[in-house]
Amino acid sequence: MAEQHKPLVIAIDGPAASGKSTLAELLAKKLGFFYFDTGVMYRAATLAALRAFQSVEEEEAVTRLTESTGIDVQPASIEDGRVMDVLLNGEDVTWQIRSSEVEQHVSKVSAYPGVRKALTEQQRQIGLRGNMVMAGRDIGTVVFPDARIKIYLDASAEERARRRYCELEARGVEMSYERILTSIIRRDRIDSTRKHAPLKAAADALVINTDGKTIEEVLEESLSFIHQQLQNQG
Ligand code: DC
Repeated sequence: MAEQHKPLVIAIDGPAASGKSTLAELLAKKLGFFYFDTGVMYRAATLAALRAFQSVEEEEAVTRLTESTGIDVQPASIEDGRVMDVLLNGEDVTWQIRSSEVEQHVSKVSAYPGVRKALTEQQRQIGLRGNMVMAGRDIGTVVFPDARIKIYLDASAEERARRRYCELEARGVEMSYERILTSIIRRDRIDSTRKHAPLKAAADALVINTDGKTIEEVLEESLSFIHQQLQNQG
């Protein structure tokens, strides 16, 4: 009898601006997989809370709201630079979740255990749809601990701040390097010290430190790891 293959999930985790979104997008293109950036779920939940309560301070209320909100991702329906559509109860919020207000509050929302539980469940459901590259903070440790392939990208805070600075500059957004660095260090602290699903590499993940490496080198390293893992696992 032909062996049944489970839908393949490639888990890419790492801190903010480690290059994981770029890598995940390139890998997805190369392999013909769907690219699912799970951070959008936390951003959409934050947007919903800000709209409903103008604040994210009430953990209980934010959790209840997240549990009753439908957040989904779909292949990009418009060619405007997006990599996927992000839907909040059916409404396209792909760009609204990138606002600085959401940016400012999303770490707090993503530290609420009830919010994580609800969104982890939704991410698992989406993951079951088929071959995909999932990028986040806890994909290899919590969302899909038995994912066949796990990659963890890291880079120093200074290198990540430098990259974010160049990205923003290219988009015409003015922000000082020092301010970006402070915000990255603050987010790292919140993401890696939270009680539930803190940011850390899974024991069986390939850890790549991207300091001083080009994206092509990181892509190359990842692809050879993926091929090797698939061969080993049969
Ligand atoms: O990757 P990003 O900047 O879009 O993530 C937004 C926030 O969501 C960030 O504070 C980390 C959090 N996040 C998380 O806790 N778990 C994930 N799987 C993805 C993102």
